[in-house]
Amino acid sequence: MSHEKSLKTNLKSTLEYRVRGIAIKLHKDSKVYSPSVATLLIAENLRNVEGAEVLDLGTGSGFLAILAAKLGAKKVVATDISSRALRVARKNASLNNVEKKIEFRFGNLYQPVEDECFDLIICNPPMTPSRMPVPRFTWGGRDGRAVLDKVIEGAPRHLKKNGRLIVSVVSLVGIGESVKLMEKMGLRPEVLDYCIYPFGKTLIRLIDHLKTLPNADYVFDGSGRPCWRLVVFEAIKS
Ligand SMILES: C[S@@+](CC[C@H](N)C(=O)[O-])C[C@H]1O[C@@H](n2cnc3c(N)ncnc32)[C@H](O)[C@@H]1O
Repeated sequence: MSHEKSLKTNLKSTLEYRVRGIAIKLHKDSKVYSPSVATLLIAENLRNVEGAEVLDLGTGSGFLAILAAKLGAKKVVATDISSRALRVARKNASLNNVEKKIEFRFGNLYQPVEDECFDLIICNPPMTPSRMPVPRFTWGGRDGRAVLDKVIEGAPRHLKKNGRLIVSVVSLVGIGESVKLMEKMGLRPEVLDYCIYPFGKTLIRLIDHLKTLPNADYVFDGSGRPCWRLVVFEAIKS
């Protein structure tokens, strides 16, 4: 478990984060996913990026792409299925003076990078399991795995030899299932970091649905609150 702490400062129209001594400013936009516990746990574990060709799949605010650029990536491609997210992410890249280092592309999953391979793929997929769509940027389909499975299945085709997929997995969608799928796809997964976090209002409302999912796993803290676990994996293509 990492002992580094990310800091967030709330200003009038921007949020300022500090990760491992690196400042990142973002424009506020309530319709675009703001960096979350999962984003920050990935950020704290983003290593060996210097000189790498990086794909940030589902970039949202652009936070991880901006961090990769600031960590010295040779090239960063950031994709999203939301044109609004891409618009905001582009503005955020300019705000952080890395707009020349990041290429923003619209499209579903790996479609915008059809024939390209990368040293590093970063993804914090939408994983909220729900029958009905919750905000699109967090909805992972009925069992929460709709995007995650495709990210893992497509990774080997878009990674160079010894390339790495860094992906967050929430226990509500099944940690063991995810490890099995990464191994099936010829990736070697290792745990980079993990945390435990209490359910928010949306998940509390979804608890009856979660009880119907065989892979959904959660624990209770000392105050009896249900909590999900989050694991950040690094899966290497041999
Ligand atoms: C959980 S958010 C993560 C955003 C950002 N990477 C972060 O960690 O802060 C997931 C992002 O993936 C995007 N997304 C959802 N489905 C997608 C798909 N099929 N292809 C590409 N992007 C997708 C959403 O619009 C959203 O911006």
